Amino acid sequence: MIPQSFIQGLLNRVDIVDVIERQVPLKKAGTNYIACCPFHGEKTPSFTVSPTKQFYHCFGCGAHGSAVSFMMEYVGMDFIEALNDLASSVGMQVPVQKKDVYPGMINFKSGGEDKENSLQDLFEVMSVVTRFYREQLKCSKRGIAYLKKRGLTGKTAARFAIGYSPPGWQNLAEIFPDYQSPILLKIGVVSESGESKRYDRFRDRIMFPILNQKGKIVGFGGRVLENNEPKYLNSPETPLFEKGRELYNLFTARRAIRDAEKVIVVEGYMDVVVLSQYGIEYVVATLGTATTPHHVQKLLRQTDNVVFCFDGDDAGRKAAWRALENSLAQFVDGKNLCFLFLPEGEDPDSYVRKFGKDAFEGLINQALPLSIFLFQRLSEGINLQTSEGRARLVQDAKPLLAKVIAPILSLMLLKRLTELSGVNQDELESLLQIRRVSLSLSRRKISRPDPISPYRWLTQVLLHNPGHVSKLDRELLSEHGENTEEMSALIALIEFIDTHPHVTESNVIPSAMTYFYNSPHRELLEKAESATLSWDNTMDLEAEFDGALVRLREMQRKKRMTELQNKSLSELTSDEKQELQRLAVLLG
Ligand code: UTP
Ligand code: MN
Repeated sequence: MIPQSFIQGLLNRVDIVDVIERQVPLKKAGTNYIACCPFHGEKTPSFTVSPTKQFYHCFGCGAHGSAVSFMMEYVGMDFIEALNDLASSVGMQVPVQKKDVYPGMINFKSGGEDKENSLQDLFEVMSVVTRFYREQLKCSKRGIAYLKKRGLTGKTAARFAIGYSPPGWQNLAEIFPDYQSPILLKIGVVSESGESKRYDRFRDRIMFPILNQKGKIVGFGGRVLENNEPKYLNSPETPLFEKGRELYNLFTARRAIRDAEKVIVVEGYMDVVVLSQYGIEYVVATLGTATTPHHVQKLLRQTDNVVFCFDGDDAGRKAAWRALENSLAQFVDGKNLCFLFLPEGEDPDSYVRKFGKDAFEGLINQALPLSIFLFQRLSEGINLQTSEGRARLVQDAKPLLAKVIAPILSLMLLKRLTELSGVNQDELESLLQIRRVSLSLSRRKISRPDPISPYRWLTQVLLHNPGHVSKLDRELLSEHGENTEEMSALIALIEFIDTHPHVTESNVIPSAMTYFYNSPHRELLEKAESATLSWDNTMDLEAEFDGALVRLREMQRKKRMTELQNKSLSELTSDEKQELQRLAVLLG
């Protein structure tokens, strides 16, 4: 582990504006700098860099981080590489690391409470397992022959960190002397039968590691070499891996997606790997699941153009329809969702190998826009010359149109349905019970800010100036919490500030970012951090801080009062009766 004190020292010396400016031209805007976001395609700048707080935030796609995370996420370095690079740019040297633990000696906590294993531990074990599979591929003639037969080069295999899990039941015991450790089960690389007899989950398979959006390995897909079943075995859902949220290759492809201003979603691991080898790198795949609303949302944050590319078979057509259904509610006006169908019997892998890159990219340009695909599919097998046929169309369209929130798309679909069904728009609207939301109204609804809880507010104040921590009345944070997630994020932040006496106004945010990188509080803290961007020196922080404390106190008093009032008089002790009276006076 690199000491936190070193990281803090480094963050004090590095200036995030310099670091980012080397890659992305920045423009001064008030106290901050802005640019078109380098993490997603956009035409007006929503990427903001704060020189005083030393972090960046994109109001468009949510990209958020410190100088360190910029090097990781934009330049594609890992944590250590990023530290080394930044350190050398300011003449510092990262303290030498203990040599890697692999092979043979990983020493993680076993037995006992599994809470003790942090996510960090799980990620570490995942990368040891990945390395093991990669080593195994190097000495497996069969594995190598299989990949060759599929036309993969060694370079491609290395780029995707493809490996091989050997036959045999307990190969992982070779690298994990404590094969019984709960960690191995938790990350899904071993299975247990009956009386907790353990065995490797993946045996005699080509292994595709799956990275999350931050570049950490969260799971595997394993393909058989011959025609056994199942063809692909994936990691189970684990604390690291939620299939409905992850997309294969999204991390690696993010730059290509930005440059191409689009992303192609395919069905299979092999499709992604082979397309990339042919120079089409802006490709991701779902992981043996249907395309979920989370997937769509995630992709639309990266780019304005999403092309779903499905195999030319029944399964592919079904999958496309599921993707459409799950996209409707996520659609945002101004974006483009298209559907591409390959000729019967082809998948992207076979197609690009037969016809080449240009032919494949040509297909992409002819993909069907969502609105066209929707009605084409709904009209299939319906005779629109008859009233019955047109009625059927309206009926089938109803639940789909109801899902669309984007006002312009909603209107366009309605107009198209008018044309196809011959029912006029007003009638259709009342038939479908669509309340026409005017554009300005829907926009107003979106922009109204959430009410901010005092916990969130205190968190923001502390991230703005950690010095205020000394004035905090700790009693207030004890048992009577209302919103537990926000409260525990605040408590965690306070603990961080308490234990890191050198955090100051100018380094608290980047320091907290590295500290909370793998923590469950990360998301809430990022929100609070980005909220401080709109604060300036005219804010009376003292007053804000005191105000939040007063609101917190009042909230807790009210809660306590309700608790006491809910007891019957005979249950109340005399102390409680007095407390109730006091509360009644205080709360007026
Ligand atoms: P396909 O059967 O189309 O496989 O499944 P593929 O990608 O063309 O693979 P190759 O070319 O035969 O090697 C598409 C995707 O569906 C999931 C996998 O994610 C696969 O890549 N899948 C398929 C499974 O999860 N399990 C299976 O048994 C089959
Ligand atoms: Mn295939």
